[in-house]
Amino acid sequence: MAAESQTPQVDQVQRSPVNFDAKLSLISEQWSPRVVAEMNDYQFKIVRIEGDFVWHRHDDTDEAFLVLDGTLRIDMRDRSVLVRAGELFVVSKGVEHKPFAQEEVKLLLIEPRGVLNTGNTESERTAPNDVWI
Ligand code: NI
Repeated sequence: MAAESQTPQVDQVQRSPVNFDAKLSLISEQWSPRVVAEMNDYQFKIVRIEGDFVWHRHDDTDEAFLVLDGTLRIDMRDRSVLVRAGELFVVSKGVEHKPFAQEEVKLLLIEPRGVLNTGNTESERTAPNDVWI
């Protein structure tokens, strides 16, 4: 990648392992993904969510959800899946989806840098992108 992608945060990540619990303890806000690491042009983002999200899709990329704590439901137009702690689910590019958490879920998102959380839609759930913690 270009030199400008070598942010100070990346240097910090390279110096020490990322501890998800420690990083999550720094976040109280829900629905606000925080970048904890990058690999090539992909970002690893932790987020706390609770309640309902908005229907959206990502036209240019798949999106991976790795659940760290709680049980995440991902609604798609033709089915829903439950993703439990320790499980991973990948939503394919272009597939409409809507995450839902009955109780708070902590998860790791893996997706290319620049992907907006609400994909093709804009709403009160749209979060600032590329915010590191
Ligand atoms: Ni999405």
